[in-house]
Amino acid sequence: MLGWRLAGKSPIFSAAEDAEVHSLAVIRPPSFAYRRILSAATHYAEQQLFCDGVPLARLAEDYGTPLYVYSATAIRARLRAFDAAFRGIPHTLCYSVKANSSLAILRLVARAGHAFDIVSGGELERVLRAGPRSAGKIVFSGVGKTRDELSMAVRAGVLLFNVESASELRALAETAMRLGRRARIAIRVNPDLPAKTHPYISTGLRQHKFGVPIPDAERLYAEAARHPALRVAGVSVHIGSQIADVRSFRAALERVASLVSRLRRAKHPIRYVDAGGGLAIPYNGTRRDFRRQFAAYARAVSQPLRGLGVHLLLEPGRSMVGPAGVLLTRVLYRKTNGSTRFLIVDAAMNDLIRPALYGAQHEVVPVRLTSARTVRKEKTDVVGPICESGDFFAHGIHLPPVSEGALVAILDTGAYGASLGSNVNSRLKPAEVLVDRRTARRIRRRERPADLIRLESL
Ligand code: LLP
Repeated sequence: MLGWRLAGKSPIFSAAEDAEVHSLAVIRPPSFAYRRILSAATHYAEQQLFCDGVPLARLAEDYGTPLYVYSATAIRARLRAFDAAFRGIPHTLCYSVKANSSLAILRLVARAGHAFDIVSGGELERVLRAGPRSAGKIVFSGVGKTRDELSMAVRAGVLLFNVESASELRALAETAMRLGRRARIAIRVNPDLPAKTHPYISTGLRQHKFGVPIPDAERLYAEAARHPALRVAGVSVHIGSQIADVRSFRAALERVASLVSRLRRAKHPIRYVDAGGGLAIPYNGTRRDFRRQFAAYARAVSQPLRGLGVHLLLEPGRSMVGPAGVLLTRVLYRKTNGSTRFLIVDAAMNDLIRPALYGAQHEVVPVRLTSARTVRKEKTDVVGPICESGDFFAHGIHLPPVSEGALVAILDTGAYGASLGSNVNSRLKPAEVLVDRRTARRIRRRERPADLIRLESL
């Protein structure tokens, strides 16, 4: 335990600094915010980053670094707000497991009464472990489901298969037939619409591998309807991820809505429309009220479906967990090469690959901000220890001086952080902690060297 206590208003901080601190508090209510405290050791006031009342510095002491820290309160608040935004239409929130597949987070989602979107047998296994009663609340997406995965999911009795090709439809039909079961299907359509996002995570154009072009889908529905082991139940679409302009979703759902009408005229019992996921989160600290953003998204998605009487399935991932997590890391070394100043931290691209893979810019902030008098920002690169220049978290950002041994937090890493983690350079995956009502719980222990070689033989 560190000897911190909360301090009252202090004249030590400049108005600008207070404003900066305030803005963090505003955009991430109520989870990751600075608090002004008095250091018991030095009696100086300073600002420290907290997660729901728990100082991140204490978590780093208790669990080591690098460390993922998630706020259960923030996740619940987002789930609740998202669900509320769709209150005008029958719907089910199917949390997209790929964003953060930690069992503890899946359990939290299950206990909040929500459903799941999965893309692999591994994710199915996780959901069944975390929420044993969730089997009937799973939608199974993905362009390359194996026959084994299809059988696992048919046996589990998932709610809906989002089928992405004629061949997959036949594989599913055969699998269900063999198991003596009937599988509910939606065809994932490819609306051939652009969405403004990184090309690697844009999925709704004809040249992408995803979905089935709408005219071909109509033929597939006819084929599915004839198969005794399949039950036509819905239409699905997913145009990509980190999409900020909700008009893209509206355009996709307009195409889906007219397809639903045509399918119903052809007597297909379309009950579900699965609108996929994809809503962006602000990574640059923009002050934005997520409730209003969810409301705008809900209007864009549901207005085109008005009057159809469908049950909407939603697959949000990032927007539920992204802002609810940080990656805490400690500065190992400072160095300057030529004119470039580096902070070499103990986290690396194996812990968080988004900057390397998509050029993603996550805010990096010091966990402690000391007296304003000493604060002159430095232009810095924040990099990890892996032997590739692609192993960076930030280039040329302006940070208050951060000394060796100090902590920094990489923000908005609750989604596609740990879940994209690897053992590159035989690095050990970090521990993960969930803070729930001021109590921190380790939900994954740090890997040990023995974990790395456990599955290998000489
Ligand atoms: N449904 C389907 C069928 C998906 O493919 C995805 C994401 C989602 C839902 C959830 O989308 P979200 O609400 O999280 O945007 N690794 C990338 C993101 C990959 C997203 C893949 N599919 C990143 O770090 O940005």
